[in-house]
Amino acid sequence: MQNSIGNVALSNVWGRLNNAMIVRGKGSFVFDDQGNRFLDFTSGIGVTSTGHCHPRVVKAVQSQANQLLFGQMNCMLPEMSARYAKALVAKTPETIETFFFANSGAEAVEGAVKLARMATGRPNIIAMEGGFHGRTAMTMALTSSKSVYRAGYQPLPSGVFFTPFPSGFYYQEFQHHWDSKQTVSFCLQQLKHLFKTQSSPEETAAIIIEPVLGEGGFVPAPSGFLQELRKICDSSGILLIVDEIQSGFGRTGKMWAHEHSGIVPDVLTMAKGIASGLPMSAIGASQELMSKWPVGSHGGTYGGGSAVAMAAAMATLEVIEEEGLLENAAKMGGYLKQQLEALVERLPQKVDVRGKGLMVGVEWVRDGQPESQMAKNLQSKCLEDGLMLLICGPGGNVIRWLPPLNVTQDEIDAGLRVFEAALSQFGGNPSA
Ligand SMILES: Cc1ncc(COP(=O)(O)O)c(C=O)c1O
Repeated sequence: MQNSIGNVALSNVWGRLNNAMIVRGKGSFVFDDQGNRFLDFTSGIGVTSTGHCHPRVVKAVQSQANQLLFGQMNCMLPEMSARYAKALVAKTPETIETFFFANSGAEAVEGAVKLARMATGRPNIIAMEGGFHGRTAMTMALTSSKSVYRAGYQPLPSGVFFTPFPSGFYYQEFQHHWDSKQTVSFCLQQLKHLFKTQSSPEETAAIIIEPVLGEGGFVPAPSGFLQELRKICDSSGILLIVDEIQSGFGRTGKMWAHEHSGIVPDVLTMAKGIASGLPMSAIGASQELMSKWPVGSHGGTYGGGSAVAMAAAMATLEVIEEEGLLENAAKMGGYLKQQLEALVERLPQKVDVRGKGLMVGVEWVRDGQPESQMAKNLQSKCLEDGLMLLICGPGGNVIRWLPPLNVTQDEIDAGLRVFEAALSQFGGNPSA
């Protein structure tokens, strides 16, 4: 798609779904400089969870901008940051009582790893195969959702070990036809084997996990697996870092995706939907754990200091609560999944529709192979017809649906009509 400016002075390193020049956003829609409208079911990869330019968030930003833009955390205590931290405690599990604020998801994960190493005095971190935690050196080292995120940058920081994530569909379809119980049991065995062969529990500071794999294919971790991880961590003094950067702030129909499993994290990393679009992230932990982080041993110029981001985050919490966005995410997510299941039922491919709340993935497989071309064709056709959808998963064959949490049923229906038209164009055949 052409835009009116043509070549722009931006790095080539950004892949981009939509090259239209976007000038305005409202709710579930963005508008380009040619007057075209797009239904944005990417929410900027899960960031604009209250929709584009929610009036309450905009107002909070405007009025905060008139008061204080920035108060550097080592120099002063911005009232808005203290107020937001207090509000966030009320929204996090009982183990999470204090926060360190930063600017991006990767920064939050980096900080969480530093905290875990410092607090336990242990060197190693165990991450999940298929996980994604960011693009900085340490977070790349923890990431294994796709080789492209690491290629060309290795060697990466050491002390990171990977254990299999119990991806139900993967083990059933591509591996052993296992059910969820067999998959969980295999993955736990592998973790125990890793303890024996590569990083003993005494050397392991933390296990990090996304309760729903994001980049790795929108795969929810089975509750039984998370519960066993919790027990293993408790019995061996390992910290459980739950990365809710994509799945948090109501995305899955609960405030935190780990709540679906009844576990609590030792360290919680948050970003994306935290402030409806302003760059911000947080690390949460107990007071006891945070007190093991010596003063000055971590920090950053901007983290926690943007009073405007804090105001946006506060307004976001209020919108989530007052507009019933958790309930809406659960209800609309259930509806979306049901409709997608009905749409793909008749297709010749194996199609797995999965997810929680408004974090829904549709994986395409034919003859035991990931069908990335089908996913790409559908994505392009949807964009042509004004619907923005992203793709994820190591095989590039999972279409991800991330509408804002206040999406309406009419908007979901509109998106589904575009998707259905794309499906009928390809007739289940990626090369049609
Ligand atoms: C689960 C998870 N962790 C960490 C990150 C990194 O966040 P950021 O891109 O803000 O650095 C992401 C980003 O997609 C993510 O999904």
